[in-house]
Amino acid sequence: MTRSTQNHRAWWKESSVYQIWPASFKDSNNDGVGDIPGIISQLDYIKNLGVDIVWLCPSYKSPQVDMGYDIADYYSIADEYGTVADVEELIQGCHARGMKLLMDLVVNHTSDQHEWFKQSRSSKDNEYRNWYIWKPAKYDEQGNRHPPNNWVSHFQGSAWEWDELTGEYYLHLYATEQPDLNWEHPPVRKAVHDIMRFWLDKGANGFRMDVINFISKDQRFLDAPIKDPRTPWQWGDKWYANGPRLHEYLQDLGKILKEYDTFSVGEMPFVKDTNEVLKAVQYDRNELNMIFNFEHVDIDHGVYDKFEPGSFKLTDLKGFFERWQKFMYDNDGWNALYWENHDQPRSIDRFANAKEEHRLVASKMLATVLALQSGSPFVYQGQELGMRNVPPEWGMEEYKDIDCLNHWNRMLKDRASETEAHAIARQEYQKKSRDNGRTPVQWTSEPNGGFTGPDVKPWMSVNPDYARGINAEAEVKDPNSTYHYWAAVLGLRKKYLDIFVYGDYELVDRDSQKVFAYTRTYENQKALVLANWTEDALEWDPAVHGVDGAREVLLDSYDKADAAKERFSGAKWTLQPYEAVVLLL
Ligand code: NOJ
Repeated sequence: MTRSTQNHRAWWKESSVYQIWPASFKDSNNDGVGDIPGIISQLDYIKNLGVDIVWLCPSYKSPQVDMGYDIADYYSIADEYGTVADVEELIQGCHARGMKLLMDLVVNHTSDQHEWFKQSRSSKDNEYRNWYIWKPAKYDEQGNRHPPNNWVSHFQGSAWEWDELTGEYYLHLYATEQPDLNWEHPPVRKAVHDIMRFWLDKGANGFRMDVINFISKDQRFLDAPIKDPRTPWQWGDKWYANGPRLHEYLQDLGKILKEYDTFSVGEMPFVKDTNEVLKAVQYDRNELNMIFNFEHVDIDHGVYDKFEPGSFKLTDLKGFFERWQKFMYDNDGWNALYWENHDQPRSIDRFANAKEEHRLVASKMLATVLALQSGSPFVYQGQELGMRNVPPEWGMEEYKDIDCLNHWNRMLKDRASETEAHAIARQEYQKKSRDNGRTPVQWTSEPNGGFTGPDVKPWMSVNPDYARGINAEAEVKDPNSTYHYWAAVLGLRKKYLDIFVYGDYELVDRDSQKVFAYTRTYENQKALVLANWTEDALEWDPAVHGVDGAREVLLDSYDKADAAKERFSGAKWTLQPYEAVVLLL
């Protein structure tokens, strides 16, 4: 028997996930910030989309330097979001509707306001000193102090911060206020296991694990090879991503996850080596169910910097997907499928770059192409409405994200006079900044899009296009909306489970820069997903691609299946701008 993914059926493979980023979901108490009761009030809206799992991004106590990815207490909820009792009610609300709830596990680092770190930095003898990664300075011949190595933080600057009190540096792969935990120290691992059990015992059904492949660092803490002086953020990954003890640690977590029959997805930047990934996700290794890889979302980054202009080729995108699809399928692994999350811009602007007149069809096309591949689909809040990036005319004062603001401040410092560079950066922020995915969800056509009270100033401005029909109230009423289309796609995936969950994947029309097409095959059942990635109508000849006619239209983004049937019965098929169709062959 081969190690194909077909060999193991599992509820988590059949599930789809809806991601909630609490600050911007729904504000129930008019303080301008989303909260847990706001989420509870919309559980039917989420359920009606046809998802099985809700992933709640960090809502723990936090100074919010990195919007909750800097946790000050894993056992309590931030005041602005609610209480532990509210999360319990949320869990029950999900369960009552047949959905599960995932918590976000952020344990590569904590906040510098966590009690463990406060203790750790207080003295070299403190019992928590070893909970974090402290190293002495290096001094050059002139006696100048330098960090222990050349690793660079993902949010700009050295990854080491000098701490005057005890005269050592601590490691922070993200913000200065996010010190990295020392997983070599057994009490740290025990503390993480306790946190997991605490939330699982409350009924949570698993975890999304933040940068989980960074938890084991090479203990030599060597200088990283400088691949290119213009790409400093890449230098250190060799020594801290997928480190020597990663799988030992994941096996330990896996035992707990298995005990509770959970869903788990690990975020893993810097993995291109699929063999390495396989160790984490292969079915019988009992580590994680799936991971988020970054290849397809890094596609439009500049060569040296995410915020430099990049380009996008459909053949590259198809190539990334094909590689992961086949590799996982043939080796009994599993994919997490996503276009968007709280770290990414809106897919409609990034991948389709559609004019307003095509917004609806382009967002339907993206839903179809993504969710019917092999893997568990993730829908990020607002994606089901076709929400867009921030308006181009917004000024810098509207941007709130530490990653973007650090970049901007560095530009102002380094290049005070280069206004052209500034203008380019500004344009790129509107395309790639994390802020694009973080504007509040648009619920109604009322002021503030119904996210918060009409007279309240929300923590981040609402995209004004809520007034032009991009809002939940309008879309729930309109059977032709993106919201209902997403529900139809997820419903189709469930109805034809054998094909779309367990079927084999073959890319079709590989070299086309205009069409994204693939088949899914399970025993003698076969479906074709065919999408026009352009704003013009185009003709597609099925015979040229080995397709000899369609038995049935399962779903079409322009017409009802019956009405579309005729268009896909002749020798040449015409696809409308951004049209997607799913055919049973
Ligand atoms: C990945 C998270 O998704 C991102 O939002 C965060 O800034 C970093 N990890 C650091 O926790």
